[in-house]
Amino acid sequence: MEFFLDTSDLREIAELSELLPIDGVTTNPTILTKSGMLPEEFFPRLIDVLTPDQKIIAQVVATDFDGIMSEARTLSRLRGGENIVVKIPVSHVGYKAIRAAGAEGITVLATGIYSPDQAFWAAKAGADYLAPYVNRMCNYGDGVGQVAELIQTLRQYDMPAKVCAASFKNVDQVHRLLAAGTPAITVGPDVVRSMIGHPGTAIAVDEFSSNWKAAYGCGDLGL
Ligand code: G3P
Repeated sequence: MEFFLDTSDLREIAELSELLPIDGVTTNPTILTKSGMLPEEFFPRLIDVLTPDQKIIAQVVATDFDGIMSEARTLSRLRGGENIVVKIPVSHVGYKAIRAAGAEGITVLATGIYSPDQAFWAAKAGADYLAPYVNRMCNYGDGVGQVAELIQTLRQYDMPAKVCAASFKNVDQVHRLLAAGTPAITVGPDVVRSMIGHPGTAIAVDEFSSNWKAAYGCGDLGL
């Protein structure tokens, strides 16, 4: 499975990639504005922070068909086209662009998905990844359950599109989608840090160290 970071924070990307086997980074126009950089500055710096095997998943901003296609082609050539995925929102014209971009050999992630039905049509249009906005879907109902069901629907029809679950506000949502077997997921650094840290672990480690020090007067095995 693939685990992406949903952020434009280069410091967080570098730090978390050093700690964890992060498979790449997803951005969208809103996330990109938070970097305070223009795309021409941001993407080269992102490329510097990542290794070539880490995917860059970047979104088009244009909303008309020709604009989407032109931006999709430009984005798909970033880093010489290596491990680049282009995000296209599932607006009406977006479905057409997803098909057309796929036909040109561009790897596409259909984004802005609020329902399993939109996801189904994006899969049928040939999207490689589908990004349902889990937390936002939870405003309308059981977002986690609907995405878990979507994973099953795709399996049932042997559709190659991979769910890349997105938009998370807490660890429980992530946990439940991982348990449902999501093939890909993108999560913000704050939630990733909450996944890997637990106060109980810090207490246990302090206890190991203080007991060891009390017994042997040092902080390592000494071998
Ligand atoms: O990757 C999609 C995601 O960035 C949307 O997240 O937190 O704006 O609902 P959010």
